[in-house]
Amino acid sequence: MARITASVFTSHVPAIGAALDLGKTQEDYWQPVFDGYLPSKQWMKDNPPDVVFLIYNDHATAFSLQMIPTFAIGTGQSYRPADEGWGPRPVPVVQGHPALASHIAQSVIQQDFDLTIVNQMDVDHGLTVPLSLMCGARDPATEAWPCPVIPFAVNVVQYPVPSGRRCFELGRAIRRAVQSYDEDLNVHIWGTGGMSHQLQGARAGLINRDWDNRFLDRLIAEPAALAEVPHIDYVREAGSEGIELVMWLIARGAMADAAGGPAPQVKHRFYHVPASNTAVGHLILQEA
Ligand code: DHB
Ligand code: FE
Repeated sequence: MARITASVFTSHVPAIGAALDLGKTQEDYWQPVFDGYLPSKQWMKDNPPDVVFLIYNDHATAFSLQMIPTFAIGTGQSYRPADEGWGPRPVPVVQGHPALASHIAQSVIQQDFDLTIVNQMDVDHGLTVPLSLMCGARDPATEAWPCPVIPFAVNVVQYPVPSGRRCFELGRAIRRAVQSYDEDLNVHIWGTGGMSHQLQGARAGLINRDWDNRFLDRLIAEPAALAEVPHIDYVREAGSEGIELVMWLIARGAMADAAGGPAPQVKHRFYHVPASNTAVGHLILQEA
């Protein structure tokens, strides 16, 4: 039986990827950010997953305004790092897990969630930056990512976006799907994006430390209640791009306590400002 053993939550700021790729991680500005992920890289080595189910948002890279799936699951064999205007990031190609992804698609769609099936796409900073933060730099010529990854893209770019409640319920459905897969696999589920940031308009540069930290508190202790927060509160309090945080509720809904089990353990918590225009937040929860 496959099982979800941990959830990871992290921001995906593209400048973090650039800092890593350009060898700037030890510069004064960036060192505190990368230091915050040192325990995470060790934790990944100590608790290696067989598969990562990675919830992220595409930033008009694979999906343009011509086609906007609310939820899209990658069932492909592999995914190339996307060219977002300055060439693809020098990171390994992401290997998928078509068999588990297809099973999850079948199960979750039969649990009444409409998923778009994606057999071919490139993946942007929303997916590759979290991998870099958790796994460290990887030379694509000689190294691979440590395990297969199932990309799960959520529309938080073009309104209307899915509600927190729907995201949390989707996580619960994903948990049931994983648990009905007939192979002994250790699966991590990652929720990425956020925390507070606004990239354009009169409030560009907005950061809300209090709201972010309260979000982290509630994500740990009362995720079902947190899932009731309406999308407009994210936008008002955490900025227009702060809405990326609803994706964290999918991963949180896949943990045992959302299905009546024990609460997870907090293995690591980190918060830092600034990183580009975004507050960096990070949490690792492991099943008890
Ligand atoms: C930034 C953050 C994002 O989430 C993103 O998708 C693009 C840019 C930033 O902080 O610059
Ligand atoms: Fe983003």
